Amino acid sequence: MSVILTGDRPTGQLHIGHYVGSLRRRVELQNAGTADKIFVMIADAQAITDNAYNLEKVRTNILQVMLDYLACGLDPAKSVMFIQSQIPQLCELTFYYMNLVTVARLQRNPTVKSEIQQRAFHGGVPVGFFTYPISQAADITAFSADIVPVGADQLPVLEQTREIVRAFNSLYGETLVEPQALLPENEVCARLPGLDGGAKMSKSLGNCIYLADSADEIKTKVQSMFTDPTHLRVSDPGHTENNPVFIYLSAFCRDEHFKAFLPAYQNLDELKAHYEKGGLGDGVVKKFLNEILQHELQPIRERRQQWEKDLPAVRDILQKGSQTAYQEADKVLHKVRQAMRLNYFDDPSWCQ
Ligand code: TRP
Repeated sequence: MSVILTGDRPTGQLHIGHYVGSLRRRVELQNAGTADKIFVMIADAQAITDNAYNLEKVRTNILQVMLDYLACGLDPAKSVMFIQSQIPQLCELTFYYMNLVTVARLQRNPTVKSEIQQRAFHGGVPVGFFTYPISQAADITAFSADIVPVGADQLPVLEQTREIVRAFNSLYGETLVEPQALLPENEVCARLPGLDGGAKMSKSLGNCIYLADSADEIKTKVQSMFTDPTHLRVSDPGHTENNPVFIYLSAFCRDEHFKAFLPAYQNLDELKAHYEKGGLGDGVVKKFLNEILQHELQPIRERRQQWEKDLPAVRDILQKGSQTAYQEADKVLHKVRQAMRLNYFDDPSWCQ
């Protein structure tokens, strides 16, 4: 029995970094049909932990993220897609788990630490943000998920869940399932750099290609990409390492793309070798990357446009998914209350 759960904070549209880092894999897992259940959660309540003064952003992006999910091929017949805040059981679980975690433990969590630094909260760190790893433990355990596909940056958060599960089970009896992280298939996919070569694609830096981008936008963005700054003339030897164009190629290109778009080479190794030797211009490589991205992203964009025309159907999928998730979480919450013996009125031994 295997249950997969993943989620995204709805703070913006999804980009190709999300696609190679997690969405593509999720759709493969879904279609492989090996998991018994797949839950995909839009983590709006977690997004509030650093957007309490901008709820409108979270509210509108729920639909954007959902459109991106459906566009990538997540299928409501196979995966339960739902909205976190519609599952109040998660709050109750969080409330109990909070007593199994120390302040010092959260302060040491490397993910929390670095995210606090990145955000530079004015007026201090909200308690809700500081404690989000505890609520994430509720997200995961409420569905008895044993596999959680996440990026490497989330590993300390997952470790926190595992500690909570172990503490809970040893204190109150075997109740919760201890999950395992499933990491992206390789390092390139785990963290796609921005178009400018920056460490990460981020909306605020304006260095992303979005799944919703038009064909023209993709083309313009690829043309604007940074390459190897030492590769001044075509004849100069070039570097493929730390060269965003080659990093994107590693994440996207397959040998059949060479046959279709650049038959002078068999595979990426050959193309890289030529670039490193000198004599291969950035224009040729960018043109190839553009062809691949157009080929891969066009069907996604078209599916997105189809769903955009039928937002009531998208809403219905989310509502049904949230109902299913509610029932599932309710079962686990019931077990948790029993394990903690909080079921006083159903327990004849409590008052006699
Ligand atoms: N913290 C995750 C992120 O920022 C989102 C998330 C919330 C999540 N709850 C989760 C991921 C549960 C996996 C499992 O991407």
